[in-house]
Amino acid sequence: MPISAQLVKTLEEKRKVILNAGGADKLADRKKKGLMSARERLEAFFEPGTFMEFGAHAQNQGREFGLADKQFPCDGVITGIGYVDGRPVAAYSQDFTVGGGSLGSMHAKKICDLQDYAIKTGMPFIGINDSGGARIQEGDAALAGYGQIFFRNVLASGVVPQISILMGPCAGGAVYSPALTDFIIMTKSNAQMFICGPEVIKAATGQTVTMDEIGSAAAHASVSGNIHFVAEDEKHALQIARKLLSFVPANNVQDPPHRPTPTLSLDIDPGMNDIVPEDPKAPFDVLKVIARLVDGGDFLEVQRDFAKNIVVGWARIQGIVVGIIANQPAVKAGTLDIDASDKSARFIRFCNIFNIPIVTLVDVPGFLPGIAQERGGIIRHGAKMLFAYAAATVPKITVIMRKAYGGAYLAMCSADLGADLVFAWPTAEIAVMGGEGAVSILFKREIAAASEPKKKAKELAAEYREKFAAPYEAASKAFITDIIMPSQTRGILAMALRNTLAKRESRPPKKHGNIPL
Ligand code: HXC
Repeated sequence: MPISAQLVKTLEEKRKVILNAGGADKLADRKKKGLMSARERLEAFFEPGTFMEFGAHAQNQGREFGLADKQFPCDGVITGIGYVDGRPVAAYSQDFTVGGGSLGSMHAKKICDLQDYAIKTGMPFIGINDSGGARIQEGDAALAGYGQIFFRNVLASGVVPQISILMGPCAGGAVYSPALTDFIIMTKSNAQMFICGPEVIKAATGQTVTMDEIGSAAAHASVSGNIHFVAEDEKHALQIARKLLSFVPANNVQDPPHRPTPTLSLDIDPGMNDIVPEDPKAPFDVLKVIARLVDGGDFLEVQRDFAKNIVVGWARIQGIVVGIIANQPAVKAGTLDIDASDKSARFIRFCNIFNIPIVTLVDVPGFLPGIAQERGGIIRHGAKMLFAYAAATVPKITVIMRKAYGGAYLAMCSADLGADLVFAWPTAEIAVMGGEGAVSILFKREIAAASEPKKKAKELAAEYREKFAAPYEAASKAFITDIIMPSQTRGILAMALRNTLAKRESRPPKKHGNIPL
């Protein structure tokens, strides 16, 4: 029996209401501001025509404070799955035109249902946030909804990649859902993220502050380190998310999307030999090294504006996906500090969860000296790096480019911390500390007694350096796999990656380790 015209009409009318979201005026208003609608954001994110919506007919459950008379299409959030690069991805998009994108119990249930679906089917989970926060009229039910989402963010953590894209307000406790995900992308101008806004801070502490100073993408990218990418606009934010997905597997039991080149190339890159300056104290830009090592110079840098003394991100080397962690000698001489340790430890752990091999590029003179570092807990934070590297069971390949001093040498994935292969350039210096520092301790009395103490210290430092400011001493003790020319590095890394991809390493069973937090 054909479906009656009346039934078709009813469905069409309902669909019209759903697509009309918070009303034509509100949608037009957003367009005027240059903002996409919640639905347009999902359409722009997914491959055309692939979006399957879940719960489009859901309605708000709140009845108090006038809600009973209000219609909230989709209850202010569009949820479903679509395809990115041919792979299914789950995503929600909060609709600010509907009750300010506020989160009531049905809105929360839709997000939770999608989280459950992503976890059980093993697909990445994306949240596009644009919301006034907990729906005030729904009170404790709204708070419970956030709790249920947080709980599932934690269940999903380590199972499927989770990415939050902030394109509007994200305030109060609501920030903790993005904060529990793996990566946060914020648009430059329209997104805010804060626990207490400027008015609350003023009332509670008397301090005057602007929203830009505490809640903008720029503040979170460079000062707090809460976010990972700043997008120029909404389209750029979606593009970053798609690019990120191109490096990661759908879940923790899959391999990342490697695209190995059909043949391995060991071609040399002579230009690499000129990158490290002759003067061991002169800086160089490690991004130039990375650009030459990876396919097409294509490197997706994570947290580019935070802790710039360390560089982390993904690329492919002859088609194999890698996570790269590199000291940046051009910033703070490449020392490790609190922020650099936090940034890299979290990145290492993400790579380990999702089976992404790690390449570490080392030029580290040590941990950053200073009162602020000691009192700020560099011991605890630096330990995160050691913990993350030692706990990681993915292939770990280390290249010592220049300095590898002291505890920081160990913290940059030395053989003892479990590196599978360690290559050193002829410029490598592997020592407990720099020559000057070493002799000032070892020969304190001799230097003081010398007729020319400075000259004596210089001579002794040169002696120390001759022994340790080269990779041969460490290589003689088999701490190093081989000493290679910088020009050979790309080919050797490509070969090493192919050799280690099948690595399997088991550890004693336990609930989880106790990483210093
Ligand atoms: C219900 C809300 C709402 C909310 C906004 N609206 N936020 N409705 N609950 N939390 C509604 C408004 O009433 C309005 O409805 C519409 O959304 C658009 O809001 P405007 O204020 O007109 O928009 P704008 O001027 O752009 O300001 C946006 C805003 C502001 C900055 C987000 O609305 C705001 O400050 N909202 C409250 C933010 C907040 O304090 N939320 C609670 C955070 S704490 P009409 O019908 O007029 O269109 C929280 C706790 C979570 O979320 C705890 C988890 C553990």
